[in-house]
Amino acid sequence: MVNQVRVAVLVSGGGTNLQAIIDARDAGQLPAAELALVVSSRPDAFALERACRAGIPAAVADRKALGDQAAFEQTLLSLLQEQGIEVIVLAGFMTILSEDFVRRYPRRILNVHPSLIPSFCGAGYYGLKVHEAALSRGVKVTGATVHFVNEIPDGGEIIAQKAVAIEPGDTPEILQKRVMQQAEWVLLPQAVQTVCREIQQQREETP
Ligand code: GAR
Repeated sequence: MVNQVRVAVLVSGGGTNLQAIIDARDAGQLPAAELALVVSSRPDAFALERACRAGIPAAVADRKALGDQAAFEQTLLSLLQEQGIEVIVLAGFMTILSEDFVRRYPRRILNVHPSLIPSFCGAGYYGLKVHEAALSRGVKVTGATVHFVNEIPDGGEIIAQKAVAIEPGDTPEILQKRVMQQAEWVLLPQAVQTVCREIQQQREETP
């Protein structure tokens, strides 16, 4: 479609959040966005298979094989620039991006985090660890947050949040699934559309 914003989704694992974005696209709920690229930081991520099935160009920037953060980010940057990417979505992407990198994309990188920020977030809080921490603290409500990425891990402006109840007998795995189903998979595609629509509107206003 004309004037769609070119989006890259960065992944490291199963890619259920990527799938939610693909499903939203297929349901016509992402008219402002073109899913132009998927990049995985791991060669064995199932998310790559999801991208392939959905017909989205996919690439690997192998974090381990590339060694240091600078080489990894240079590879990533080249892939994004080659594809003319304007918006980057971190969807289960398990690498913290450097200050230098995020400064290149102000208010153009989104992240989904599986808690209600500012609880259970920042360096060391990722994946199941977040849910383990929520359960051991004994909170009764958790949720998910979509936010812009800045130089502070999980510290950027909040775009959307949704609360999810913790039930008696929850394990980290059960809670993770509920937070994904009730919050992450709902919020993330909506936020992608909202941010891309705003960019489209800014373009329309600029002669
Ligand atoms: C999701 O729960 C996501 O919120 C979390 O990892 C999971 C990835 O699942 N991300 C973080 O913890 C980032 N700090 P997915 O690969 O199935 O989308």
